[in-house]
Amino acid sequence: MKVKNICCIGAGYVGGPTMAVIAQKCPEINVTVVDLNEKRIAAWNDEDVENIPIYEPGLSVVVEEARGRNLFFSTDVDEAIDKADMIFISVNTPTKTYGIGKGMAADLKYIELCARQIARVAKNDKIVVEKSTLPVRTAQALKNILDNTGNGVNFQILSNPEFLAEGTAVTDLLAPDRVLIGGDIDTEKGQEAMQTLVDVYSHWVKPDHILTTNVWSSELSKLTANAFLAQRVSSINAMSELCEVTGADVNEVSKAVGMDTRIGPKFLQASVGFGGSCFQKDILNLVYIAKSFGLNEVADYWEQVILLNDHQKRRFAANIVKTLFNTVSGKKIAMLGWAFKKDTNDTREAASIYVADYLLNEQAEIVVYDPKVTAEQIYADLDYLGTRSSEENRKLITVVNDPEVACEKSHAIAVMTEWDEFLELNWEKIYDSMLKPAFLFDGRRLLNKKQMKDLGFKLYTIGN
Ligand code: NAD
Ligand code: UGA
Repeated sequence: MKVKNICCIGAGYVGGPTMAVIAQKCPEINVTVVDLNEKRIAAWNDEDVENIPIYEPGLSVVVEEARGRNLFFSTDVDEAIDKADMIFISVNTPTKTYGIGKGMAADLKYIELCARQIARVAKNDKIVVEKSTLPVRTAQALKNILDNTGNGVNFQILSNPEFLAEGTAVTDLLAPDRVLIGGDIDTEKGQEAMQTLVDVYSHWVKPDHILTTNVWSSELSKLTANAFLAQRVSSINAMSELCEVTGADVNEVSKAVGMDTRIGPKFLQASVGFGGSCFQKDILNLVYIAKSFGLNEVADYWEQVILLNDHQKRRFAANIVKTLFNTVSGKKIAMLGWAFKKDTNDTREAASIYVADYLLNEQAEIVVYDPKVTAEQIYADLDYLGTRSSEENRKLITVVNDPEVACEKSHAIAVMTEWDEFLELNWEKIYDSMLKPAFLFDGRRLLNKKQMKDLGFKLYTIGN
C-alpha cells in the first residue's frame, strides 16, 4: 500500500521537524500536523516563517518549501485523523507528577487520549505509528484500546522512535544514523504496514539505514539509546570531578579515551550536567520498568546516571558559592545561556534552572542572557520548581538581551550554554566592567583558558 495522507498528532519539537522533512522529501504525500495547542499551530502557520515556534537551524527553509503545498498545520484533529491512512502519535510523554510511579514512570495519558480519539473517529483501516518515546509494551495497550471500539476498523501499530537531537534536528532527519521500525513481523498485515513506512523513509534514506525489528525491540531500543548516551555524559562528568582533585585535564582524558575505536570520541564532553526533555525522563522510565519487573540491580545501575547528573549540577553551583568567599548573598551573578544546549530555544531540564535555583536560595541576584530563550520562559522554568513565589523569582532574576549588560558590575559569570556567540564576546571589555576579583565559571569548557586567565579572570572550568 502507498500512503497518500499522513496525520501527525503533536506539533512539538519532534512532530514539527519530522513531518516537515517527510513532506519535503515526499511531495506526493499530504502531511497534516495537528495539535490542541492553538497558539503553537498559529505560530507554525505564521506568514513569516521565521516565527515558527521551534528554533532549529535550517528548519524554516524546509517548512517554507513544503507548507501549503503538502504540509499543513491544523487544530482540527478529528478531520486529520479521518483523512489519514497513516497516523503518527508524537505527543509528549513526561514523567508522572502524581499517583503510582510519581517522579519516575512515563505519563501516558496523552497517548491514551490519542488512541481513544483515533478509535472514535476512524472509519477505515489505519496504520498507527508510535513516534513518541514510550515504555516497552505500550503498543499492546494501544492495540487493546484500538481493537475494542467495535467499529470494525483494522489497525496496525508500528513503533518508529525518533533519534533526532535538538539543535541538529534537520541534519539528523535528513541523514539519520538509522531509522528504526518495529512492527508485527509475524503477520502478513504487520509486514505490509512496516513496508508502507519503509517506503516513506526510502524517499531519502538508504535501505541499509532502515532497520526493522519486532515492536518490543524497537520500543526498548529508544530507551536504551538515550540511557547509553546519558551514561557517557555522566561517566565523563564523574571523571571531571576526579580530574579537578588530581590535576588531570578532562579534555585530555576524553581525547585519549575516545581515540580507542571501541569507545569512540563522541559524547565525551564534560559539562555542568545534561539537560533536555528526554534523558532524565527516559532513564527514570527505564528504572521504573526494571523495578516493576523486580530487576532492582538493573534499576539501581541506571539510576546512578541521574544521581551523578544531579550531583554535577549541584557541585557546580556549590563551587560558585564556595569560591565567592562562601557567600553570594546580594551579589550579582551573570548567567550566559539558559537553553539546555546551543542552537535550541528549548529549556526543559536545563542545568541552568537548577544552578539558578541553588544560587537564588543563597540570595544571589542573577542576570541572565540567552540569545534564543525568552524572559517569560526563564521565569516559567523557575516558577515550575515551586521553590519560591513567582513575584520573588521576578525580583531576584533579571533577563537582559545583551551579554555585556548581563556581565556589567557582576561578581561572577557562569557560562551555562555553549552558544558560539560567547566565543566572540569582547572579553576584555567584560573583564573591565566587572567587580574584582572577576570570577568566571565555565560550565561548558567553551572559552580559551589561557586567554581568559591572561585577561585577569579567576577562572574555574569543569574538569580543570
Ligand atoms: P512537545 O511537548 O514539544 O510536543 C508535544 C505536543 O503534543 C504538544 O504541542 C502538545 O500540545 C501536543 N499534544 C498532547 N496531547 C495531544 C492530543 N491529545 N492531541 C493533540 N495534540 C496533543 O514534545 P516533543 O519534544 O516533541 O516530544 C514528543 C515525544 O517525542 C516525546 O515522547 C519525547 O520523548 C519524544 N522525543 C523527543 C525528542 C526531542 O528532541 N524533543 C527526540 C526524540 C524523541
Ligand atoms: C538526545 C539524544 O541525543 C537524541 O538522540 C534523542 O533523540 C533525544 O535526546 C531525545 O530522545 O529527546 P537532545 O537531548 O536533544 O538529544 O540533545 P543532546 O545533544 O543529546 O544533549 C543532551 C544534553 O547532554 C545537553 O544538555 C548537552 O549539553 C549534554 N551533553 C551532550 C554533554 O554535556 N556532553 C556531551 O558530550 C554531549
